[in-house]
Amino acid sequence: MRYDADALARHFADGPGDVSLADVDMARLPSHISIIMDGNGRWAEARGMERPYGHMAGVDSLRETITTCVRLGIDALSAYAFSTENWKRPQREVDMLMHLFATTLVNELPLFVQENVRLVFLGDLEALPRETREVFEEGLAKTASHTGMVLALAVNYGSRAEIARACRLVAADVAAGRMDPGSVDEFAVAERLYTAGLSDPELLIRTSGELRLSNFLLWQLAYAEFYVTPVLWPDFDRWELLRAVASFQGRERRFGGVVQG
Ligand code: FPP
Repeated sequence: MRYDADALARHFADGPGDVSLADVDMARLPSHISIIMDGNGRWAEARGMERPYGHMAGVDSLRETITTCVRLGIDALSAYAFSTENWKRPQREVDMLMHLFATTLVNELPLFVQENVRLVFLGDLEALPRETREVFEEGLAKTASHTGMVLALAVNYGSRAEIARACRLVAADVAAGRMDPGSVDEFAVAERLYTAGLSDPELLIRTSGELRLSNFLLWQLAYAEFYVTPVLWPDFDRWELLRAVASFQGRERRFGGVVQG
């Protein structure tokens, strides 16, 4: 996607010294970046604060990451906000998160409009409280015609449930005679996932040092490069994103083949 070189240079002015815009090749950026935003609770607890403060600080990191990806001209950014397993958290934290999702969307919608960001959601929104669902639906409607970066927010998302849902949709088409069983291939499944129409992520970033996928985009991340950083999500910033991209560009990607010499 196109980017504004002046706005990009301004965005990355005054760096920390160990990384700069010169460390990345703008012609070889990942087109889709995925992020597992982890460590909000630990960030808050380390400061003697309650976990919700970590989630609130995490919203600032998400905003900065969205703006940074827009400045870089990234095509798609996906972020894991709430898993199908996160309902097991204390009810107070779940309620707080659902409210935070709604207020965040209301507050950030003007940014999405200004930056031409198209919002999509990954996950089953039916189970969300009405307030959150209605705000999400308004966000979808207001950004549907946007042609810039796609922001895919995974909320009440679980990858196994997503793949099972795609299988159910395929089975229904086969049962109804709309599809021949022999024609069920990878594309038939992929186009029934929540990510239909999006390219697969090329770079997965996970914060807080955990080395697991936590049921996130199991299908779509088949060939993604992983970047795990000990930085907790509320401390993640544009410079850490640059480090992740520079690391991605240092990898040799073979997609199961061999590199032609
Ligand atoms: C993981 O930290 C983070 C979350 C469960 C929530 C992240 C959500 C946001 C930053 C806001 C997203 C906004 C919208 C509109 C969807 P954790 O609680 O698992 O941290 P811990 O591992 O330290 O306990």
